[in-house]
Amino acid sequence: MIARPVRIDALSLMPRLPWPLPALLAWAAAWLVYLGLQGRVVPVAALVVACAVGTAASVLGQGWWRRGLIATGFPLSLALSGAASVPAWAWLVPLALLLLVYPLNAWRDAPLFPTPHDALRGLSAAVALPTGARVLDAGCGLGDGLLALRRVYPAARLEGVEWSVPLRLLCALRCPWATVRRGDLWHDDWSGYAMVYLFQRPESMARAAAKAQAEMAAGTWLVSLAFEVPGATPHARLQPDGGHAVWVYRMGGQPVASRPAAAL
Ligand SMILES: C[S@@+](CC[C@H](N)C(=O)[O-])C[C@H]1O[C@@H](n2cnc3c(N)ncnc32)[C@H](O)[C@@H]1O
Repeated sequence: MIARPVRIDALSLMPRLPWPLPALLAWAAAWLVYLGLQGRVVPVAALVVACAVGTAASVLGQGWWRRGLIATGFPLSLALSGAASVPAWAWLVPLALLLLVYPLNAWRDAPLFPTPHDALRGLSAAVALPTGARVLDAGCGLGDGLLALRRVYPAARLEGVEWSVPLRLLCALRCPWATVRRGDLWHDDWSGYAMVYLFQRPESMARAAAKAQAEMAAGTWLVSLAFEVPGATPHARLQPDGGHAVWVYRMGGQPVASRPAAAL
């Protein structure tokens, strides 16, 4: 039996800081990095590294306005201060970094919002998986879904696929026990998985159900945090501690998306 991991990392703790502390810390860190690099590297490199710090820290913000403020606070304050002697094109760096972390393609499905710590509590009681079962977090972001899955299925083989390059790299660092790939969740083959986990958008759920029904074997599982498959009857609906609902669908039999809705 694999021991339950006890892991506390900075990314898990930082989102709980009260607003605007995450922004103030991120801006201060970016400024410190920028000032610390003065005279050591060319000004553009200092701008790039400091903006990267601010953009990376933006994932600590809850909601789009806060993320945008965290990411843009440093370059805006630098521009207003007039302290930077960089070419005009260098001001596109913050925008490029934002697009790297939040690629437009991923926005169609879901931008980054992490699975809360205990969101999947009770899932293993509703669905037992054999040791070594392959479980995919489709759109794994920074790895919070994989961490939550590992808490409930410590003996599963966990995999993640993520479109954003930096998020995929950070996820692989946070989840070295998982196989984390860069790719498009819609182009992935789900046929080998015992469970596919999603935290996407309501609009994505019909498409995800159709894909799961077409590719996954009978008796396997599609699990969605917060968003249900429209018009489908779940095998179970969990609601740990009043958080997001966890919708559990069993593959096989009638197409998942064509069953009539049923009150639970
Ligand atoms: C709401 S977040 C969930 C992250 C992670 N699953 C979790 O629960 O903590 C959605 C993630 O899906 C990613 N994503 C969106 N569309 C995608 C696609 N087509 N292929 C791969 N990843 C995608 C986004 O970049 C984002 O990181």
